[in-house]
Amino acid sequence: MMKLNREVFDEIKKQCLEELKTAHTLEKINEVRTKYLGKKGKLKKLISDISILQIEERRSIGEIYNRVIGELEEEIQKKIQSVKLEKIESYQFNKLELTLPAVKFSVGKKHPLQQVYDEIKEIFVSLGFDIEEGPEIEFEDYNFTMLNIPFDHPARDMQDTLYLSLPETDKGRLLLRTHTSPVQIRVMLNKKPPIKAIMPGRVYRHESIDVSHLFNFHQVEGLMVDKNVSLPHLKGVLIYFVKSMFGEDIEFRFRQSYFPFTEPSLEMDIQCLVCRGKGCNLCKNSGFLEVLGCGMVHPQVLQNVGIDYEEYSGFAFGLGIERIAMLKFRIDDIRLFYENDIRFITQF
Ligand code: FA5
Repeated sequence: MMKLNREVFDEIKKQCLEELKTAHTLEKINEVRTKYLGKKGKLKKLISDISILQIEERRSIGEIYNRVIGELEEEIQKKIQSVKLEKIESYQFNKLELTLPAVKFSVGKKHPLQQVYDEIKEIFVSLGFDIEEGPEIEFEDYNFTMLNIPFDHPARDMQDTLYLSLPETDKGRLLLRTHTSPVQIRVMLNKKPPIKAIMPGRVYRHESIDVSHLFNFHQVEGLMVDKNVSLPHLKGVLIYFVKSMFGEDIEFRFRQSYFPFTEPSLEMDIQCLVCRGKGCNLCKNSGFLEVLGCGMVHPQVLQNVGIDYEEYSGFAFGLGIERIAMLKFRIDDIRLFYENDIRFITQF
């Protein structure tokens, strides 16, 4: 057995501290610790035959051994802390740490319906239309009566309209508006002509859903009331709108229709861009999709809101935002807008 004394331990301690100086990673530090302090390390080996020493000598060597072990352990801990700190600082100074997993950013986007509404709004605002809004809970009088919709009209039926279970008001029952046309009434009651406004909003109908119908969807109402407003003005504005939205070559058609609050009444269809007019499930093989109803404001409606129909005339329209978005983005099922599937929404 080698002669054991303080110098031998100090020599090993010196060697250990020298190696620690050049260890710059946690792995290297660990290697040094195992080499000197491990179960089969240099210090352990030194005292492997300690049992053959006299009791006095054994005690003093044991003390030296424990002191050196303690001192080296302390140095190793200090070194570990300083290496960890360096690592953190290197992240803070944006040094590349290629072993770290990349941070994934998910960037928010406007919903396709919001994008389409923004575009619709921009087109009408560029033509000088104001933006007005009305409540989704509406009076029966504004939603139906003042729009010249007769009391026995099927749209008023509980089957088509969602009524609120609240006491009746002096303006009739309360309901979830079935279209944005009651906002026309509100605007005309509050403003004198000339009036030129669009009125966006959510509407509700007790309706069964399919590829082009929802029971809860969005419309943009349009209204212009002034002296000498005529049908060509209405058509001109709507043609300008569809060409701005879909391009100069878009195919469209006006069809004669009926609404109690307009006379004459028309509906506008746009070529089905899902099948490019060839015929598909969405357009029911007609090659066209209905996007709006419109017409000249009925004189009775003007009278109901106190506007002199001999002096003023007006046009109105109500378009479906979802239908415009379907054509714009070639979506063959209206329900997709409301499934909130991120894989669908992020495509637009
Ligand atoms: C009306 O709602 C009239 N208020 C429109 C109007 C306004 C006519 C002003 C004259 C003057 P209609 O029910 O046809 O009309 O709906 C208008 C548009 O809303 C339709 O052309 C279509 O684009 C959209 N729409 C109607 N029902 C649904 C539905 N269930 N799901 C999705 N969009 C619909």
